[in-house]
Amino acid sequence: MKLTLKIWRQQNSNEKGKIVDYKMNDVSPDMSFLEMLDVLNMELVEKGEEPVAFDHDCREGICGMCSLQINGEPHGPDRYITTCQLHMRSFKDGDTIFIEPFRANAFPVIKDLVVDRSSFDRIQHAGGFISVNTSGNTIDANAIPVNKHDADKAFDAATCIGCGACVAACKNASAMLFVSAKVSQFALLPQGRIEATDRVMNMVRQMDEEGFGNCTNTGACEIVCPKGISLENIARMNREYLSASMKG
Ligand code: SF4
Ligand code: FES
Repeated sequence: MKLTLKIWRQQNSNEKGKIVDYKMNDVSPDMSFLEMLDVLNMELVEKGEEPVAFDHDCREGICGMCSLQINGEPHGPDRYITTCQLHMRSFKDGDTIFIEPFRANAFPVIKDLVVDRSSFDRIQHAGGFISVNTSGNTIDANAIPVNKHDADKAFDAATCIGCGACVAACKNASAMLFVSAKVSQFALLPQGRIEATDRVMNMVRQMDEEGFGNCTNTGACEIVCPKGISLENIARMNREYLSASMKG
C-alpha cells in the first residue's frame, strides 16, 4: 500500500509542535501499525533525519504504553484493541493517516507522540492498592469466599491497562473511567472493603489535583476503551464517593 502519514512532531514540551507529512510507498497489510512506524523510522535514520518518538513496550495489548491518536481516535479505528494490536489491513491503499499524541492538559507532550502519563501513577499511589501485613503465615487465597458475580465484575475492572485512551477521547479530558476501574476492582471484594473509604476519597482528590476534567456522561471513554471497561464502574465510584463523603 502507498500511504501519506501526517505525524505530529514536537521537540519537547516547551516548543510548539506541527504536523509533518511522510510518504510510505511499500506498506504490507500484515504489518502492525507500530511496525509500519518502525519502517518509517529506519528510513528517516538512513536519511540522517530524527526518528519519530512514540511509546510502546509489550506490543501485545497488555502494558498500556502505546498511546496514539489515529485519525482522531485513540488506538485507531478498530474496537477493543490497543494501537500495538492494530494492523495496516484496517487501512486502504492511498489513505492519509493523521497520527497525534493523546491530548489532555494532564498528559503533557514529552516529544512527538510521547506523552507523560505519570499523573495516572500518582492517582494509583494515592489509594489503588490493598495494605497487607506480609510478616507471618501467608493467608490462603480462598480463605474469604467471594461470590462469582462480584469476582467477575472485579476481574473485568482489573483488566484496565492504564493506557489513557479514555482521557484522550473525552471532551473534558476526564479520567473517571480509569479511576473508577481502579476503585471498583477493590470495592467489589471483601479484602478491598477495609480501606474503601480512604481509597475513593484519596484517588478522587488526586485525580482532581492532576487537572483532569469532570465526567458529563457522554460515554466516549467506554467506546474507545481497548479493554471494554464499562461505564457502570463510574456509577459505582460515584456511590462509593458519596457514601465515603457522608462517613467523612
Ligand atoms: S479505562 Fe480503558 S481506556 Fe481508560 S486507561 Fe483503562 S484500559 Fe485504558
Ligand atoms: S505496547 Fe503494550 S499495550 Fe501496546
